[in-house]
Amino acid sequence: MSPVIEIPQRIRTERLVLRPLVRTDLDDIHAYQSDPEVVRFLPWPVRNRDESAGHLAQRMSRTRLEKDGDNVALAIDVEGTVVGDLTLIVASAENRGAEIGWVLHPDFRGRGYATEAARAGLGLLFADWGAHRVAAKLDPRNVASAAVCMRLGMRHEARFLHNELLKGEWLDTDVYAILEDEWRGRGSS
Ligand SMILES: CC(C)(COP(=O)(O)OP(=O)(O)OC[C@H]1O[C@@H](n2cnc3c(N)ncnc32)[C@H](O)[C@@H]1OP(=O)(O)O)[C@@H](O)C(=O)NCCC(=O)NCCS
Repeated sequence: MSPVIEIPQRIRTERLVLRPLVRTDLDDIHAYQSDPEVVRFLPWPVRNRDESAGHLAQRMSRTRLEKDGDNVALAIDVEGTVVGDLTLIVASAENRGAEIGWVLHPDFRGRGYATEAARAGLGLLFADWGAHRVAAKLDPRNVASAAVCMRLGMRHEARFLHNELLKGEWLDTDVYAILEDEWRGRGSS
């Protein structure tokens, strides 16, 4: 049977709270979604406030991981400020494959928040959803994101050349992944 979970109300880590997005997060989220540097390696353009509001509403309506393509977003909350978000995606329910992604406001980088949030996200995927494999896909030029993968114990598995036509450019895609046994072998951290 395919695994199913509802997005949890709150996950506490050492320094962060991961929680569902709410409407009042708009200002915090728009602050980084409107920054060209933040979206440089992401598959969407900078968003104006209305676009961020529409995107937020869409993401707030997605609360369940069950079928292929299902995705949920969790706010990365530091003392009431949303400093970024984590996305969890069902790549294949049949094969218990998931994907994970992360974004931080530039002012909150360099403190390990993305890695700390993503560790909790891996915990949710492996321990609660029952993932067998979790992957991250990124532009090879995105060295900060690759470093997050390595800190999480993910392995660089593949590079697909000219895999995507994005913003008028053919882009390569790197795939990093970690298996359930490997995650458990790291003491689940
Ligand atoms: C990818 C992204 C989230 C990485 O952010 P980041 O701040 O570099 O990653 P972390 O939050 O894990 O922080 C790690 C850094 O904090 C440092 N750090 C400080 N205190 C730390 C702590 N307590 N624990 C761990 N790391 C700590 C680490 O040494 C590391 O620094 P370094 O890069 O100089 O080696 C960020 O660059 C980003 O949002 N980019 C734009 C969006 C994007 O491209 N997302 C990925 C799409 S695939």
